[in-house]
Amino acid sequence: MSRKFLIAGNWKMNKTASEAVDLIDEIKSSVGGQTAVQVCVCPSFTSLAKTSELVEQSEVLLGAQDMNASPSGAFTGEVSAEMLRDLYVSFVILGHSERRQYYGETNQIVNQKILAAIDNNLKPIYCIGETLEERENGRTLDVVRNQVREGLENFPSKSIENLVLAYEPIWAIGTGKTATDEMAQEVHCDIRKVLSEMFGDAASSSIRILYGGSMKPENAEGLLSQADVDGGLIGGASLTARSFVGIIEAAQKV
Ligand code: PGA
Repeated sequence: MSRKFLIAGNWKMNKTASEAVDLIDEIKSSVGGQTAVQVCVCPSFTSLAKTSELVEQSEVLLGAQDMNASPSGAFTGEVSAEMLRDLYVSFVILGHSERRQYYGETNQIVNQKILAAIDNNLKPIYCIGETLEERENGRTLDVVRNQVREGLENFPSKSIENLVLAYEPIWAIGTGKTATDEMAQEVHCDIRKVLSEMFGDAASSSIRILYGGSMKPENAEGLLSQADVDGGLIGGASLTARSFVGIIEAAQKV
């Protein structure tokens, strides 16, 4: 089963709307027309309206960094799936470790968001990954398996083609420390086994599993060459066109 690479930029809390427009313009002029690799940028909510007009005529897709699981109502400060769809958002990052760490998001909370995203035709990029302590105690696979099982509970099989996972070891996020190619492959392969138990072999082999955690042009090719690594979720290196495009180019070579 061939899976098209997805290179997604997680801009986190960076870039004003006008800076976002400039960066997307640069990305578009370098890779906006190519179709070999799927490209997505995830700016802050405040930039989505302006940038949705920009990406309309290009192959660059738009993603959001979070959303609320409820359709509407008294949830001050929150944004719904329908609001994102209205701005032509295609992907939504859910369960990022920073959301889990700073905002108390559990697998159960993230599960509700994933189901709401799917109901609204948004493609969730479901983030999972272990802490340094968990890795050092040999618990990586247990932790990640549990995140996959709980986060994807009741996920409808008919929507499997819209599901993306991102394995992001927490100790590698924003630290400059990257998992080795072999470490990434070991966990990705294990995630695919769990997906296979949950959804069957055919579905499991069609789901893209991205790697995230200090991916940059210099290490992208090695990581992306691993059999079960289907793209990257890029933080720091997605904030300049040069490094983000460098990663897309590395993906094109693999
Ligand atoms: P990083 O972030 O590339 O800066 O390590 C990745 C992420 O948090 O998604």
